[in-house]
Amino acid sequence: MNVLLLGSGGREHAFAWKMAQSPSLSKLYVAPGNAGTREVATNVDMDAMDFRAIREFVLGNGIHLVIVGPEAPLVAGITDFFKADPSLRYIPVIGPSQMGAQLEGSKDFSKAFMMRHGIPTAQYHSFTADTLEQGLGFLETLEAPYVLKADGLAAGKGVLICDELVEARVELTSMLLDAKFGDASKKVVIEEFLRGIELSVFVVTDGKSYRILPSAKDYKRIGEGDTGLNTGGMGAVSPVPFADQAFIAKVEEQVVRPTIAGLAKDGIDYTGFIFIGLMNVNGNPFVIEYNVRMGDPETEVVIPRIQSDLLGLFEAMGNRELESYALTVDPRTACTVMLVADGYPGNYEKGHRITGLDRVEGSTVFHAGTTLKDGHVVTNGGRVLTVTSMGESLEEALERSFANAEIIDYAGKYYRSDIGTDLLELMSDN
Ligand code: AMP
Ligand code: GLY
Repeated sequence: MNVLLLGSGGREHAFAWKMAQSPSLSKLYVAPGNAGTREVATNVDMDAMDFRAIREFVLGNGIHLVIVGPEAPLVAGITDFFKADPSLRYIPVIGPSQMGAQLEGSKDFSKAFMMRHGIPTAQYHSFTADTLEQGLGFLETLEAPYVLKADGLAAGKGVLICDELVEARVELTSMLLDAKFGDASKKVVIEEFLRGIELSVFVVTDGKSYRILPSAKDYKRIGEGDTGLNTGGMGAVSPVPFADQAFIAKVEEQVVRPTIAGLAKDGIDYTGFIFIGLMNVNGNPFVIEYNVRMGDPETEVVIPRIQSDLLGLFEAMGNRELESYALTVDPRTACTVMLVADGYPGNYEKGHRITGLDRVEGSTVFHAGTTLKDGHVVTNGGRVLTVTSMGESLEEALERSFANAEIIDYAGKYYRSDIGTDLLELMSDN
């Protein structure tokens, strides 16, 4: 089977690394890929948003299956593009339709979806420039902190949590009247603040049945102790110790089943991942957000724990035979520690030579922002590499990743040395 994977991050390297182990794989292409995907697949210099170029490539290279890593091509309708083209319509795309991708592309759409299908989430109201006065009035009825969310995609920056009412009023006004997040904040969702511990649950579906993949917790802030600016993610751990069987059973009953049934009821075509961001509020799950793709770096801890064939899973999804797929999961703990470029998530330099990759032992390194220059791997993004380790315990996995994070080097290397320590503390308290 010939496969085309779209994307260029650590998530895509992890997918490619795992699919390369599949006996049914013939040729794997990654577009555009990075220096890591190049080791396990063929990189194609093609933009994941250039649907015309993708069409030519798929037809010219006998591609049997397309897997979409990031959300942007999904929100732009790549799955519908394939379905509407007589030559492409029988080639399965792993990723939802444009309508399904609205679960991530529009907060207002996803909140209305949850309300309609009785899925637990924070109470909310949506406002536009025309209803700013009502929005300011709604803020008065809430207690601090105030949660404001730009409706559209805002590169992970569209959520503001304000401690003071005055700050919330100013931010709401600037989002609606001054396009603080461009078109993404033409509409703003204001919602109730949820207190609890966050985690993510990942589901795959073929529109009929589903499988729940291992859960994970990620570390979003740049600074130790969860301080500073939000990033794409600085590390992750799987499984999440407090997400025991009883909690996951609640998630399945209250969130996963009604989500899958809701998609069918609303006539939304959905084959792909559903990444459910949850808050555990006193043992009860509340949905914070849906994403229509896998998380990054969550993929880099979830995929290494999947023992069954990943390409087989994608094939089963594409053929709507997920019901008969046997998912097996490694019970050990996986962690990943992201190495980033100094200055990230603000401005940073690129092109620094990376050393030590050949001396890594006991971990798997997934490339995020890397490329090849004059035969050497160099930095090419804010998030550069992520070091994944498995362990019988979380301590053991973390120890391996941190040791290898020290061995790898480049100018401006930075990583958080406290990934997982909150979970270790939580476990020692219980
Ligand atoms: P998002 O960009 O949608 O992942 O949101 C960013 C972060 O804001 C989440 O990871 C949560 O930590 C926080 N957050 C979002 N919604 C709420 C809420 N209703 N209550 C508390 N925290 C929230
Ligand atoms: N790590 C969070 C995300 O992929 O959205």
